[in-house]
Amino acid sequence: MTLRIATLVGSLRDDSINRRFTEALIRLAPDDLRFEPVAIGDLPLFNQDVEAEPSEPVDRFRAAIREADGVLFATPEYNRSIPGVLKNAIDHGSRPYGQSVWTGKPAGIVGVSVGKIGTAAAQQHLRAILAYLDMPTLGQPEAFIEWTDGLVDESGRIGPDSRDFAQDWMDRFAAWVRRA
Ligand code: FNR
Repeated sequence: MTLRIATLVGSLRDDSINRRFTEALIRLAPDDLRFEPVAIGDLPLFNQDVEAEPSEPVDRFRAAIREADGVLFATPEYNRSIPGVLKNAIDHGSRPYGQSVWTGKPAGIVGVSVGKIGTAAAQQHLRAILAYLDMPTLGQPEAFIEWTDGLVDESGRIGPDSRDFAQDWMDRFAAWVRRA
């Protein structure tokens, strides 16, 4: 059985290091996992006044999460938390009350930053949100990744220094989603 993994990158930047790392990470996935990018940049700012009449992008987003067997979050760190664009998407998926599309979906978190702590602070905030949304989230290994030369090579693959770590992360994530 193929498991569908909705993949959310919390950066809208064309040359996002989180997107580049995530695309390289996905190349290490086993055959039974299919990673599907889910766009979040076209979602309107969440407004509870209109949550009962969702716009087309919100409908599309919620359907993509609903149909997924698991979710991969790749988050930058903005001011020691997750970017607003990612929180906005999470909020859209959680409403209306009682109709959250996140409930029970197994999740994994990775994050890449230019700083030494590699999104650790942002990921802790994201874990708290996912716990509230009742999403079982892979605990180990933590993927707090500092962007360095060669992390992703010219061909879009994880570089040799990080390949074993990335493969182990992917194998553990796949096992986590299969178990759920
Ligand atoms: C950052 N950056 C950053 N980095 C970090 O390690 N901790 C932080 O708290 C912040 N804060 C922050 C705020 C804002 C508004 C911006 C734009 C950036 C730097 C960040 O790691 C860097 O811009 C990455 O390149 C962002 O990831 P993407 O967009 O390349 O995936």
